[in-house]
Amino acid sequence: MSKSEHRENFSSRLGFLLISAGCAIGLGNVWRFPYIVGKYGGAAFVLVYLLFLLILGLPVMVMEFSVGRGSRKSIAQSFQVLEPRGTKWHIYSWFGISGNYLLMMFYTTIAGWLMLYVVKTVRGDFVGLDAEGVAGQFGLLMGDPISMTAFMALAVLLGMAVCSQGLQNGVEKITKGMMLCLICMMFVLALRSVTLEGASEGLQFYLKPDFRKLVYDAQGKNILGETIFAAMGQAFFTLSLGIGALAIFGSYIGKEHRMTGEALRVGILDTVVAFVAGLIIFPACFAFGVSPGEGPALIFITLPNIFNAMPAGRLWGALFFVFMSFAAMSTVIAVFENIISFAMDQWGWTRKKAVAVNTAALLVLSLPCVFGFNLWAGFQPLGEGSNVLDLEDFLVSNNLLPLGSLVYLMFCVSKRGWGWDNFIKEANTGRGLAFPQGVKIYVSRILPLIVLFIFAVGYWNKFM
Ligand code: PHE
Repeated sequence: MSKSEHRENFSSRLGFLLISAGCAIGLGNVWRFPYIVGKYGGAAFVLVYLLFLLILGLPVMVMEFSVGRGSRKSIAQSFQVLEPRGTKWHIYSWFGISGNYLLMMFYTTIAGWLMLYVVKTVRGDFVGLDAEGVAGQFGLLMGDPISMTAFMALAVLLGMAVCSQGLQNGVEKITKGMMLCLICMMFVLALRSVTLEGASEGLQFYLKPDFRKLVYDAQGKNILGETIFAAMGQAFFTLSLGIGALAIFGSYIGKEHRMTGEALRVGILDTVVAFVAGLIIFPACFAFGVSPGEGPALIFITLPNIFNAMPAGRLWGALFFVFMSFAAMSTVIAVFENIISFAMDQWGWTRKKAVAVNTAALLVLSLPCVFGFNLWAGFQPLGEGSNVLDLEDFLVSNNLLPLGSLVYLMFCVSKRGWGWDNFIKEANTGRGLAFPQGVKIYVSRILPLIVLFIFAVGYWNKFM
């Protein structure tokens, strides 16, 4: 059984905020956000996404934090502790934890690419190449399962090494430093990108909404349902909602501050970083003639061009990929922490055992994503040109996260769950911004319907 008497705590509020922000800020902001925005047409999509962050994401984040703090448990037992006797909410633990694994099964590969790009940039692999040459380099990498596996493994091992040190020694200390450097660095690079020659077209794409692009793709097909579905997925993805990834940090904090204020801070930090990532990528795309609809390769074939066009570009480039790797690794560490404490809470394992078993498991589980780009490229589960990454990402971002968020939501508002009163009491314990009671009807009646509706229409539009 659990060892809650010995549960660690964060040493400071800043530690909690930065670590939650570190979990939220990651590939979702620097890799996924730009490529999804590029795919779905730019500024108009960004507006829908921002709206969803506010009306869907934020309330769910408050709920996840509250469930974590109220139960002082990971997702393994948080529902069990809080649910009324005889109810079955705790079954969701297994879906939630599967979501954590599934997320890491592709996340470690992309984190590996970033680290590989640090090496490639330092080595000067991109020097003197034009945009086509840079894309060619990325193509070579995709055809090389050995390097990809090596760097995926590096991501797994580094993340696990940090987690094996325990919460305060490892996770908190390292993440704090990483986050602060990253945020400063991104502003500098955005400044460079928006002053590139030809940047203005990119800024227009990113900031000037063209609402037709929400509705029609380049071939004139109506994709409104799919676009809205993608915006919802991205909103939940970027805030790390629905699979207990943030709840775990709620379980490590004291009762001094109300949860809404904390959620707002994390949400704002996350949004700022994603927004700035867009300011780096889109001006550069247009300046160098890279199509913003390139998909998952987008940042990898855009960024080296910026650095090539800069004095001391190799240094800037290397630093940039180092910080991007930091952002990805802070998320990897946060999710690993969740996976490890699941095993500790659920089976009473020591941290050491949980780390050992999960290191092995994640090394193996991450292989299909790597192979999907080369050895298994013939497997195209979501239609022409798709691969294992797309499938895993779709399952997590468009299914587990929104539906998981719905579970947290219903748990917090339903009488047959933890219930509104308990939730509000927990969320509003401490000082700071209170969760407004006036939104009860919206949160309990309307919000779930919005999620379900977008989900149903999204599926219909995507597959029918
Ligand atoms: N929010 C993380 C990112 O942006 C991804 C994530 C999703 C992490 C869900 C945990 C849970 O990279």
